[in-house]
Amino acid sequence: MSKKVAVLFGTETGNSEGVADEFAKAAKSKGFEVELASISDKSLDDLKSMETSVFVISTWGDGDPPGDAETICNNLFTSEADELKLDKMRFHVLALGDKSYVDYCGCGRRLDGHLERLGATRFLDRKDLDTDFDDHVASWKDEVLKVI
Ligand SMILES: Cc1cc2nc3c(=O)[nH]c(=O)nc-3n(C[C@H](O)[C@H](O)[C@H](O)COP(=O)(O)O)c2cc1C
Repeated sequence: MSKKVAVLFGTETGNSEGVADEFAKAAKSKGFEVELASISDKSLDDLKSMETSVFVISTWGDGDPPGDAETICNNLFTSEADELKLDKMRFHVLALGDKSYVDYCGCGRRLDGHLERLGATRFLDRKDLDTDFDDHVASWKDEVLKVI
């Protein structure tokens, strides 16, 4: 894979942003050229030119996207996105959530499925992390860095 990596977060209270930031720093220290951004900064069109991409996204409400990811997720998850061709993209999704909710990591699961539906290639299976996510971030980071 290329030495460029985009790290996109979708967050409501900052957990996903914090994890994305940690990952971005680790990737930079390994020599990657990293773009760290909120997913809200991207349009559907921007996604078409993206290559290696790591998404860190939480779930809110009743399986809904976090506030800053609402627009792009709602577009991606409907027929609005049907014509998108994400064939350049190799992606991985880290989903943050809370097992006490019925739709555990629902937004991350949907994002993962729709990116694949639109032609992107999953380079590593989605990881779902519960409220103890902090305990697992270090091993998750290592695993992703090993693959990219
Ligand atoms: C009001 C509320 C609703 C939530 N809804 C869900 C949910 O439907 N599914 C889930 O897995 N987690 C849910 N969560 C848990 C959050 O996804 C979790 O706390 C996550 O770490 C927040 O990350 P963020 O700060 O990046 O948004 C909810 C949390 C709150 C406070």
